[in-house]
Amino acid sequence: MEIKQSKFVISNSKVENCPNSTLPEYAFIGRSNVGKSSLINMLTGRKNLAKVSGKPGKTRLINHFLINEKWHLVDLPGYGYAKVSKKEKKVFQKFITDYFKKRKQLVNAFVLIDSRHQPQTIDLEFMQWLGVNVIPFSIIFTKIDKLKPQTLDEKLVHYKSVLMEYWEELMPIFLSSSKDKTGKDEILDYIQNINKS
Ligand code: GTP
Ligand code: MG
Repeated sequence: MEIKQSKFVISNSKVENCPNSTLPEYAFIGRSNVGKSSLINMLTGRKNLAKVSGKPGKTRLINHFLINEKWHLVDLPGYGYAKVSKKEKKVFQKFITDYFKKRKQLVNAFVLIDSRHQPQTIDLEFMQWLGVNVIPFSIIFTKIDKLKPQTLDEKLVHYKSVLMEYWEELMPIFLSSSKDKTGKDEILDYIQNINKS
């Protein structure tokens, strides 16, 4: 699939205020700074559609984008950002979990994981939570341009072995680099195939 049209629709902190539409929806979630907003720009071929920053905690709201007039793409705030106060963390957590629990249009969540990092409890727990709440998800390992191919392979083998301790079956896994546009076709084709079925 090619994204020919993408436009920002609305930002908000309440799932109740998300677009009142029946279009299928795909959300991007993961730790702060993992590259969610950059990936959205890469997929849509737009430089500044989603706001990117070197400082974690840039995206603070639920952001809806309309793609090809056919589906919504959703940029979410990162979880696990240490510099946010405890109170703020709770507010964030609440609207993110509310979004996942209540948003009926959500077809698939993409959980982004920095390919350079060891498996982190916060990501593993979040995926468990999605599983318990029966929310379909896939994993995208980001920033693969930052690793040598052999190191990347070793990291992936290790990560998958950890996942197998928790899951009977591996979920779909993608690799991405927003810098090199790696993963663009695979991720968009995956979305297109679900939309068709
Ligand atoms: P929050 O909104 O703060 O949760 O962050 P985010 O997950 O949206 O990350 P964002 O896209 O803002 O990117 C964070 C930083 O990582 C920025 O400095 C990006 O330029 C950089 N970055 C993102 N993706 C890639 C990538 O694929 N390769 C490289 N080399 N850098 C990347
Ligand atoms: Mg962001």
